[in-house]
Amino acid sequence: MKGLSVIVLAAGKGVRMKSDLPKVLHRICGKEMINHVVDNVKGLGASQIIVVTGYKQDSVKEVLAENVETVWQEKQLGTGHAVMQAVPSILKDAGHVLVLYGDTPLVSSETLLRLIEYHRSGSYGMTVLTVDMDNPEGYGRILRNNAGNITAIVEHKDANQDQRRIREINSGIYCFDRKLLAEGIGSLKNDNAQGEYYLTDIVEFLDDKGIIIGGCKSDDPQEVMGVNTKYQLSVVQKAMNLRNLIRLMEDGVIIDDPDSTYIESTVTIETDTRILPGTHIEGGTRIGPNNVIGPGVRIQNCTVGSGNEIEFSVLRDSDIGSGCRIGPYAHIRPGCSIEGGNRIGNFVEIKNSRLKEGSKVSHLSYVGDGDVGRGVNIGCGVVFVNYDGRKKYRTVVEDGAFVGCNVNLIAPVRIKKDAYIAAGSTITKDVEEYSLAIERGQQVEKKDWVKRKGLK
Ligand code: UD1
Ligand code: CA
Repeated sequence: MKGLSVIVLAAGKGVRMKSDLPKVLHRICGKEMINHVVDNVKGLGASQIIVVTGYKQDSVKEVLAENVETVWQEKQLGTGHAVMQAVPSILKDAGHVLVLYGDTPLVSSETLLRLIEYHRSGSYGMTVLTVDMDNPEGYGRILRNNAGNITAIVEHKDANQDQRRIREINSGIYCFDRKLLAEGIGSLKNDNAQGEYYLTDIVEFLDDKGIIIGGCKSDDPQEVMGVNTKYQLSVVQKAMNLRNLIRLMEDGVIIDDPDSTYIESTVTIETDTRILPGTHIEGGTRIGPNNVIGPGVRIQNCTVGSGNEIEFSVLRDSDIGSGCRIGPYAHIRPGCSIEGGNRIGNFVEIKNSRLKEGSKVSHLSYVGDGDVGRGVNIGCGVVFVNYDGRKKYRTVVEDGAFVGCNVNLIAPVRIKKDAYIAAGSTITKDVEEYSLAIERGQQVEKKDWVKRKGLK
């Protein structure tokens, strides 16, 4: 939308959060609060987005996209003071300015557009997005005159008993005529309960000048929920998670129990994949169709093909092909490529390793820094001994090899195509194709030893 500038306030520490992290950097469904707001704003196609930073500004700037401008508010003297810092940077050809707060992450692009349309279609100098709340505690209250126009916003702390009974609240989202914003911002004083320059005092200033202030009412109180405390963070997180799950279900994903399923905003999942309870899917994870995932699975930053079954397992930073059965109780650590049709069974840990198609590691094994070919069988209790206390080495097991139970493969070592390793062996040298390697002490049997000792 040409001619629109946007200001997002994100300078506050967020004292009520009781945290060293700036409030807007707290993550909700895998994304910083400020970036939820900025991404929603991006949907408007504004000519300019300015974020006002302050407390720990370097860490806030670090997470912002490059095409977002920032201005610095050295001291956090209130929301009005924050906007004051941004006003000189507003493009001169901007007709309208949208102002919103970085601690209101659930507001959608559609609602913002509706506010802007409402503002432009009336003859308003300023329009406030409002909503009726059952429990308006902590929010600024909206005062209207008989004609229904807004005459003032009173902060909760400054409000009298009658005003506190008003349920219509200020969402903190406003659309301004650019020139009136610049004029009004210069009028603010800090003579209130908190000794701050309130942006909301602009309303009275403009009203006194005879400017009409519009109140665009939203019917969704949840969307404008501000995050001031860790409890509110959890409420917003739950709402955002449910939104993500609904979006996925609308796209054809099956989710048995939304109450115990957590899927971050950045995850994609294709149709008819079924997510069972107690499952967390995070980061840039991409999941194809027709998988069954869960119960009790955590997947971070993985790609997963189709037709896999994964239960009670943890998978990180790895690629999983199609048609694998993983778990229960498998741990796929970063850097793995499990190419397809693989069986990874219980109490198996795999790290920085490649398993080509059809290979199996069914029970109680550690595969670290391994290159495992096609159709390999890794028996129960096999350890890829990859670390000598100083350096890590790789183990190669070529196509069709069979590694018996309780074998140690001391890296670097190569088990060539179709070789067999006898159970219980500790292998330190390469094994040739089609050979059997066996490394065991001879079994000695002492006849009647028990009787001679008088034990039975
Ligand atoms: C504010 C509104 C209140 C509204 C509520 C909606 C004012 C005076 N009050 O109250 O009417 O109902 O939001 O959620 O505007 N910030 C700065 N610099 C500052 C102070 C704040 O950048 O000096 C930023 C904060 O980082 C935050 C946002 O402005 O993202 C809002 O500040 P906050 O202190 O949370 O305001 P509320 O008390 O919630
Ligand atoms: Ca707030």
